[in-house]
Amino acid sequence: MDKNLAVIILAAGRGERMKSELPKVLNTIAGRPMLGYVLDLVKSLKPKFEICVLGDKSETVRDYIKKQKSKVKIVIQKRLLGTADAVKQTNPILKNFKGIVLVLYADNPLLKPQTVKKLILHHKQTHAEAMLLVATLDKPKGLGRVIRDSSYNILRIVEEIQTNEHEKEIKEVNTGVSCYNKKSLFWALNRVKLNPRKKEYYLTDVIEIGCKNKALIESLRLKDPREAIGINTQGDLSQAEKVIQQRLLQALMEKGVRILDPDSTWVCWDTKIKSGTIVFPFTVIETNVKIGKDCRIGPFCHLRDGVEVQDNSKIGNFVEVVRSKISKHSTAKHFCYLGDARIGKGVNIGAGTVTANYDGKKKAVTIIKDKAFIGSDTTLVAPVKIGRAAKTGAGSVVTKNKNVPPNITVVGVPAKPLKRVFKKRPFKSV
Ligand code: UD1
Ligand code: MG
Repeated sequence: MDKNLAVIILAAGRGERMKSELPKVLNTIAGRPMLGYVLDLVKSLKPKFEICVLGDKSETVRDYIKKQKSKVKIVIQKRLLGTADAVKQTNPILKNFKGIVLVLYADNPLLKPQTVKKLILHHKQTHAEAMLLVATLDKPKGLGRVIRDSSYNILRIVEEIQTNEHEKEIKEVNTGVSCYNKKSLFWALNRVKLNPRKKEYYLTDVIEIGCKNKALIESLRLKDPREAIGINTQGDLSQAEKVIQQRLLQALMEKGVRILDPDSTWVCWDTKIKSGTIVFPFTVIETNVKIGKDCRIGPFCHLRDGVEVQDNSKIGNFVEVVRSKISKHSTAKHFCYLGDARIGKGVNIGAGTVTANYDGKKKAVTIIKDKAFIGSDTTLVAPVKIGRAAKTGAGSVVTKNKNVPPNITVVGVPAKPLKRVFKKRPFKSV
């Protein structure tokens, strides 16, 4: 544990620019609320204090934090009076703390732990009162600009709405990540004035206050400016989605997964795929999906939540799977829907197969045992069980609870066991 470090996550803002009912920090990136990425980062720093500032009506955010089993202490900012006011709310918790305070914004989910660790180290080495993480962006729209003097010392940060024409052209921005000596920070916070235009107290104003009082203000520049993307609009969110997708797909490829076209492949933050598997273009994988070794997935395949595909299986074109297990060496290669299915080993699922898992009231399970052969265009009305090595004929409809015993072939609508018809041989006279 770093006894000398306290981390404050600011997450109380309304996120009005998102134009959505959902609290901003619960918007997902690769299937995970953006706050989850920030909580993970904070955990990796092992600070003495982890504090998250939430707004008055943030029950859903509070519930999410509790579910993560993080040791974050929640502080409520009753009136959303800006980022400086939000940090001030942590004063009762940090009263006797004397170390470094790191402030993170919950809408900054792309930050990497190694970047933040570097920032803290730099802060310690330079003995600065405040340390800002800055970035140089081609399109700095919406972000606070860093204003420096002719000797390159930081003077202040100007929010975009307050920039003049010259300042608007500045490409160096405040990422929102900053470290402070606790005492100096709270001293400066008490001197921040209400911004007359936004009617908010800006945390960024502590920089100008510090500067005027001869405090040492330092900065560290981000190498990869994409880490600086702060999520304020739906556009920012889709930009962040792209960055996280690239990171996740890169990590899978490094483990030996072949992704034919990363641009058209979408995975989730918790997707697990083993080496030797090939993912063809236009594949979408949602949360809680595990894929084994040497599988072929896609093209145009949709694996929804709770799917396990075991080694050497093939899930092909226009196949949608949800809450299902597909055991080793099984195939579902052409357009079908498999929902709540437990599929054994070496099973062949024919083109157009549908597990009808929902009767309008509740969902039910379809069990298909090892080596079964499901003929093209079969509908399996759940709950139903297809026995080991049983077969269904093309176009058959196996109705609810009409389980098919092992090694039996059923055909028709509703499906019935196939009777063997022995033609009578004509009597031959001698
Ligand atoms: C902020 C910075 C800006 C920087 C940008 C980086 C300020 C004044 N500006 O602008 O310089 O370039 O981030 O992304 O800090 N929040 C609260 N309580 C409040 C207001 C906000 O907790 O009363 C939280 C929000 O939930 C959010 C964070 O603080 O997580 C930042 O607020 P936001 O409104 O997004 O600030 P930006 O306009 O992005
Ligand atoms: Mg923001």
